[in-house]
Amino acid sequence: MMDRPPATILPLEAQSPELAIAASWRHEAFLKDDGLTVADSAAQLTRLVTKPEGPETALIALLGERLAGICLLVLHELEPAHDLSPWLASLYVDPEFRRQGVARRLVRAIEDHARRNAVRRLHLYTVDAEDFYLKCGWTVVERFEAGGVSLVLMARDL
Ligand SMILES: CC(C)(COP(=O)(O)OP(=O)(O)OC[C@H]1O[C@@H](n2cnc3c(N)ncnc32)[C@H](O)[C@@H]1OP(=O)(O)O)[C@@H](O)C(=O)NCCC(=O)NCCS
Repeated sequence: MMDRPPATILPLEAQSPELAIAASWRHEAFLKDDGLTVADSAAQLTRLVTKPEGPETALIALLGERLAGICLLVLHELEPAHDLSPWLASLYVDPEFRRQGVARRLVRAIEDHARRNAVRRLHLYTVDAEDFYLKCGWTVVERFEAGGVSLVLMARDL
């Protein structure tokens, strides 16, 4: 098998074609069950990239010209069950590009960005990617239920 070059990590830009694709991914994977629309998802991303607060950022992974994944650093989770901040959120890799280390690079890049912005501890919620985050060095803080769903609160000291 030929080795692919590693993904390039860049900030998401407003009005880029990548923003619309990322908005659609986020909606499908994380938002639609809460009644939010693709337009809501795009508006949230546009706000994040045009008016980031503090350490907030949206990073994308490109493989060649193709968008392979996205990951966010946000001050506020959508429906937080914990009074914590900031959060790693909306990590998503296109199914075609999974298991090639794209998510790991995105998580590292978000951690590096957070560290450069004086963040000492990052948090996240996950339903079924706990094992992935354990491999990335995160730890389980708490398991809890919300809306009939089993969630895991995880954290990473930077
Ligand atoms: C979870 C997700 C982001 C992983 O993306 P990915 O690019 O395939 O992950 P990577 O290739 O960087 O994987 C890094 C390591 O984690 C492992 N891994 C990846 N997905 C895993 C999973 N779901 N469960 C267990 N281990 C996993 C990989 O095998 C790899 O291990 P290795 O280094 O020992 O080989 C991707 O499957 C996805 O987008 N899923 C849907 C959305 C989602 O669940 N996001 C997380 C929300 S909290």
